[in-house]
Amino acid sequence: MLLKLKTSVILSPLAGISSYPFRILNRRFGCEFCFLEMINCRSLAHSSKKTFKMMKTDKDDRPLGIQLLGANEGYIMKSLERLHGMDFDIVDFNAACPQRKVTSRGEGAALLKDRKKLASLLELITKNCDRPVSVKIRLGWDNASKASDIALSCQESGIGAIFVHGRTKEQGYSGTVDYGAIASIKKKLKIPLIASGDILSAELAKKMFDETGCNAVAVARGSLGNPWLFREIKEYLERGRLLPRPSLEELIKTMRLHLRLLCDFYGDIRGVAHFKKFFIWYTRGFEGAKPMRNEISRIYTISGIEALIKRFKDTVA
Ligand SMILES: Cc1cc2nc3c(=O)[nH]c(=O)nc-3n(C[C@H](O)[C@H](O)[C@H](O)COP(=O)(O)O)c2cc1C
Repeated sequence: MLLKLKTSVILSPLAGISSYPFRILNRRFGCEFCFLEMINCRSLAHSSKKTFKMMKTDKDDRPLGIQLLGANEGYIMKSLERLHGMDFDIVDFNAACPQRKVTSRGEGAALLKDRKKLASLLELITKNCDRPVSVKIRLGWDNASKASDIALSCQESGIGAIFVHGRTKEQGYSGTVDYGAIASIKKKLKIPLIASGDILSAELAKKMFDETGCNAVAVARGSLGNPWLFREIKEYLERGRLLPRPSLEELIKTMRLHLRLLCDFYGDIRGVAHFKKFFIWYTRGFEGAKPMRNEISRIYTISGIEALIKRFKDTVA
């Protein structure tokens, strides 16, 4: 089933980050397609409570993609059964995660070394899923990999779209994205290609479209503490206009909103714990914020965080 995208800018799956509050926040700033946090098929098959909490969603959280991680056919089949009746728009299969604990189980990017196995898992998913299926790959395990061959064999398994992160597994998240390699995959494919890698600004999003011919881009690290990126990309692509960066007032308002969304979802203690990393991202680049970024690890209450946000505002104003 071909994936028909209504938007050309997507929020990429981000494990440990893209929970319900993060998605809702980004949607308020113009993001039109989000992914849940990556779901481990073994945990979903075992009906883990934590996994069901991660999958919590509602009608305001659409369109929505689910990304599955696994390599065991039994767990994958059980996971697909568990997804019946759930509201979502696409199932993506992860063949990109570079973490050792994942690849050592033969999952994520390890599947890039075994094209046959990857294709057969994708076939299994497409046959047993009533929604469009996609795969997320990297350019291969290392420089010796043949990225186009991997992408073509995925396409043959019947998937409806492919996400390509323009780095190899060996590169991890470092080094630059290989635009040429993504472009050469795109030329050979019939299905839509969504490009990932260094979508950190509106200009870099346009560069990805211009240099690769991709159908859409997936924003990842660029969204951390920066939900404005979605409207900036949209405005630049549609009207060629670079929007001004958010004012300090908007930044402060957004931090407070993000804190509230996190605490409503997780409860105060866990909400505050989740917010800490976002505070560091929101205050990046502000001179004078470093002591506050260090201090936040010792704050455990909403009122403590609110006081810190106020102090940040007074310091940088
Ligand atoms: C903290 C973090 C978590 C991520 N989690 C996932 C994930 O669960 N699934 C996935 O396919 N990619 C994951 N990625 C990769 C991103 O989706 C994206 O492909 C990659 O970061 C390249 O884009 P960027 O250079 O714009 O950040 C993650 C990246 C980061 C930084």
